[in-house]
Amino acid sequence: MSAELHREIARRRTFAIISHPDAGKTTITEKLLLFGGAIHLAGAVKAKRNQKSATSDWMAIEKERGISVSTAVMTFEYRGLQLNLLDTPGHNDFSEDTFRTLTAVDAVLMVIDATKGVETQTKKLLDVCRLKRTPVITFMNKLDLEAMDPLDLLDNLEKELHMACTPMTWPIGAGKEFQGVYDLRDKTLNFYLATERGLANEREIIGDLTSDAAKAMIGAHQEQVLGEIELLEGASEPYDEKRFLRGQQTPVFFGSAKHNFGVKELLDCFCDLAPTPQPRETVARVVEAEEEKFSGFVFKIQANMDRQHRDRMAFIRIVSGVFRRGMTIRHVRTGKDLQVRNAMTFLARDRSIVEEAYPGDIIGIPNHGTIRIADTFSEGESLRFTGVPNFAPELFRRVRLKDPMKQKQLAKGLTEVCEEGAAQLFRPLIGSDWIVGAVGSLQFDVIEARLREEYNVDAAFEGLGLQVCRWVTLADASKRDAFENAYTRDLFTDGSGNLCLLTETRFRADYIAERNPGVTLHSTMELH
Ligand code: G4P
Repeated sequence: MSAELHREIARRRTFAIISHPDAGKTTITEKLLLFGGAIHLAGAVKAKRNQKSATSDWMAIEKERGISVSTAVMTFEYRGLQLNLLDTPGHNDFSEDTFRTLTAVDAVLMVIDATKGVETQTKKLLDVCRLKRTPVITFMNKLDLEAMDPLDLLDNLEKELHMACTPMTWPIGAGKEFQGVYDLRDKTLNFYLATERGLANEREIIGDLTSDAAKAMIGAHQEQVLGEIELLEGASEPYDEKRFLRGQQTPVFFGSAKHNFGVKELLDCFCDLAPTPQPRETVARVVEAEEEKFSGFVFKIQANMDRQHRDRMAFIRIVSGVFRRGMTIRHVRTGKDLQVRNAMTFLARDRSIVEEAYPGDIIGIPNHGTIRIADTFSEGESLRFTGVPNFAPELFRRVRLKDPMKQKQLAKGLTEVCEEGAAQLFRPLIGSDWIVGAVGSLQFDVIEARLREEYNVDAAFEGLGLQVCRWVTLADASKRDAFENAYTRDLFTDGSGNLCLLTETRFRADYIAERNPGVTLHSTMELH
């Protein structure tokens, strides 16, 4: 392995922040970027809510609803490390996108609203992390508000997320009484100065929490904190690197993102604990980051990154080797070699042409629809990375075209929009309907708006009784015709031509599976 590659791998951390909407992900992202010097103005990330940001106002619908539909990657430097933060949409309807983004990271920062505890969306996302054994670091946010009791918070996290907690800091009071955090590792008291909104980050080192000096500072909280820490020693696991790296144990921090309190401690610890770019599995073998030859996979496709060009950006997570501008890489699914001169990297919200990129980095390749989610790129080897999932949609609508002359544009628009992965397109085995399936209903509004704006097609969605989607595999391929003949009205093909069962009830899907040994139904489909 070259020294250069080794050095660059060692200084990279690729991660995502997950949270339930409103827990504080945007606020904390902004603070991290501030520490990294990537933005200079507090409020730059949040500006998207106020519809000021040029990069995320690409769609009216996004503005209207005040949510961020697009997922971006933000790269920044901190303590000599290069941090690649993959942003994930907080809105529930875009969770598929988030799930796929999680396949491209090596660690996750989980933000929890300490006034509410673990919420549904966090639970769902953490299930994916557990499945992939992604290490998770937790930030209990909003301690400046009336937060839940910290011991109850840990208990709630352990019960809801089935993950052992190891507090790294401990809060002293909460809400109006919030005085700061006690760092359990180096035994220092870190005070929160509400008057300065925590920006001073003043530190007073007190080796002995039982001392008079400590009492003078935290007063009545001294006894309470001492009691809690004693309880903790008996109840919580000591930090165990192996368990953390396997996603079985999470270090926990307390603070307030809004008041920038406890965020720097979190970031410092994140840099110390989070792993460097990890290996990834392919069908044939595991690919290590240190391998000299370039490889990577597509985890996201996004249109409208640039309104001037009608291209789509394919986001590639580099798994191994070095990407250099102008190099030729193989698009394994099509077998075509591609000379890439215009790959993009992303510094905070700006993008620029990439000269060199390393494992853990995300590069964007502009393309006109030839690249799909889960595609692999290599320097020639027929690798196929696994693990990028397609989830069965839960909502289905039939597309009704208002102008029948626009069939061709409709087909193009639907195919392209669905190839980005946020919704899925189905066609019945017999008939010419277009059925769109999505995880959330907002997707239908987005597609309708995009068909109108980008493809000049006026289409509407109408409800259907369908509720269940399962991909079908047959143990004996020669039985496919007979199966298709028997269940024609239930069978569809997805955008990649895979056979699917779409039914009104789960009962019918189960019934069909039971009646047909050798037929297996799947609620997720691995894309490759
Ligand atoms: P999200 O991206 O996870 O959806 O959450 P976001 O950061 O947008 O935060 C949601 C709301 O919670 C925001 O209030 C934000 O200011 C607030 N918030 C975030 N961290 C803290 C914290 O540590 N303490 C307190 N008290 N509030 C916090 P908002 O009213 O929606 O926006 P804004 O007017 O405050 O900007």
